[in-house]
Amino acid sequence: MPGPGAYWYGKEEMEAALEVMKDGYLFRYGNENDPKFLKKVFTLENELVRYTGAEHALATSSGTSALLCSAFALGLKPGDEIIIPAYTFVASYSSVVFLGLIPVLAEIDESLSLDPDDIGRRITDRTKAIMPVHMLGNPCNMDRIMAVARKHNLLVLEDCCQAAGASYKGKKIGTIGNIGAFSLNFFKTINTGDGGFIITNDKSLYEIAFGMHDQGHSPNRTGVEIGNRSLLGLNFRINELTAAVALAQLKKLDSIVSVLRQKRAYFKNLISEAKGFKFRVLNDPEGDCGTLCTVIFETREQAAKVSSALGSKTVDKSGWHVYANMEHVLAHLKSVGQPHTKGSYPKTDDILSRSMNISIGVVDGGLGAGWGMNINSTEEEIKEAAAQFVNACKE
Ligand SMILES: Cc1ncc(COP(=O)(O)O)c(C=O)c1O
Repeated sequence: MPGPGAYWYGKEEMEAALEVMKDGYLFRYGNENDPKFLKKVFTLENELVRYTGAEHALATSSGTSALLCSAFALGLKPGDEIIIPAYTFVASYSSVVFLGLIPVLAEIDESLSLDPDDIGRRITDRTKAIMPVHMLGNPCNMDRIMAVARKHNLLVLEDCCQAAGASYKGKKIGTIGNIGAFSLNFFKTINTGDGGFIITNDKSLYEIAFGMHDQGHSPNRTGVEIGNRSLLGLNFRINELTAAVALAQLKKLDSIVSVLRQKRAYFKNLISEAKGFKFRVLNDPEGDCGTLCTVIFETREQAAKVSSALGSKTVDKSGWHVYANMEHVLAHLKSVGQPHTKGSYPKTDDILSRSMNISIGVVDGGLGAGWGMNINSTEEEIKEAAAQFVNACKE
């Protein structure tokens, strides 16, 4: 049950992948003088620059590696603390833990993303960075987060993995903090199965991230640059086949977001007669991706009843993104002396226990969004889903 981009795989993706296979260059580097080398990765990076308005883009093997390379580029060192919301995917934590950073969790607010009011309480003299995660396609309150970052001189790594296509007050997400990391996995707005990318306006961050993702090399090498490598890196490269599919998907991104937003507006309107819940706060209603519709009930009992009547579950019961349900995250938090038991983030627990994620375009049981619509749902299907929801609320 994938994200909307997968519902729209078509001849564009197939032809692009086939073209790369026929021409035989699958590695991101090739013979520049050979017309058969199609330079799909280079083209993708240029197109990402054009699409996001960022000065630099770097395609990577995944969102996880994009986060790791971004945190490394920021110069974060073992023992530095980074503030991360208590509701996010495991990779937001693990990517920085493998650099020796200490993840410090903070509460979410009713946008289901990082609560700007809680960040200050988590700051210590070891805090170096904040990771706002644009959860469920919804941009964080970046004005307030950036104000806290400026006040305390903190770096900002935007985790944009769930929100390709989103913007905040006219700027594409990922261009507001120092650096932004995106995922192209199967559940995302657009996808290539797996893949990711980084954007930044800072050339030196781009160069360090590039080196980390390509064994220490400087950007767009033409060979093995003896004497020109300033750091030890790893291999998080993307390949030409993935980039070819990504280019085809990127062309569809604006239409995907626009269709999802229309479908969600239609659905929201149809269920607005039901009582006992409100919609999640959208920090920029013009910039949200429309991938999900999250409803927050007045009581957890009502949330549990409605979601189970629809064969779904409340967000606190979904396995992948809730701190209290990720035993491996809790074990690590314990080992670094951070709060690590269920109940440590009561505001987050309360909001998630009253919330239900309804799929509009990301049909993902792991997010608690196994029920709802998909990007191809017809008007009749949306009406039917809305009627079911309204009935469940009445009961
Ligand atoms: C918020 C968030 N961060 C990071 C990631 C990691 O992305 P990937 O699966 O491409 O490594 C994901 C993917 O699910 C995510 O949702």
